[in-house]
Amino acid sequence: MNRLLKLILLAGGILFAFGCGYKAYLGLHGTSVRLHPDIHKSVTADRECLECHHPDNPKGPPTPHPTFTGCIKCHNDENGTKK
Ligand code: HEC
Ligand code: HEC
Repeated sequence: MNRLLKLILLAGGILFAFGCGYKAYLGLHGTSVRLHPDIHKSVTADRECLECHHPDNPKGPPTPHPTFTGCIKCHNDENGTKK
């Protein structure tokens, strides 16, 4: 019984770590650009986003995934408070 419990906890822990660390790769939505509408209002192209968010030369917080495409699909939630 004790072993079974440990196994369940371990499996839960792995799933939890996976879910958080790899949110982007599971297709969940990222922080919305609407949190800072003044900066992002007229920006739609990936190339433009990367001018400010590429980790090599960031003017804002660097993106953990500079090779992704369609930034706006994941970073444009109506609910601007989403973190
Ligand atoms: C498949 C959906 C998806 C795409 C496409 C995507 N992102 Fe993200 N992005 C995320 C998620 C989810 C996070 C949060 C990562 C985490 O918490 O582990 C994130 C995090 C970020 C962050 C860090 C935000 C913070 O709160 O510090 C930046 C900056 C960012 N993305 C920029 C971009 C840029 C620029 C592009 C286009 C080149 C892009 N993203 C494409 C889902 C996506
Ligand atoms: C003119 C430069 C610039 C452009 C272009 C730009 N950003 Fe930003 N972005 C910033 C800055 C600066 C911040 C940080 C604002 C702050 O924290 O006050 C930011 C914040 C963010 C955040 C939230 C990070 C957080 O944790 O609050 C995300 C996500 C993001 N940008 C994604 C994008 C995406 C996607 C695009 C393209 C549609 C884009 N940005 C275009 C400069 C830019």
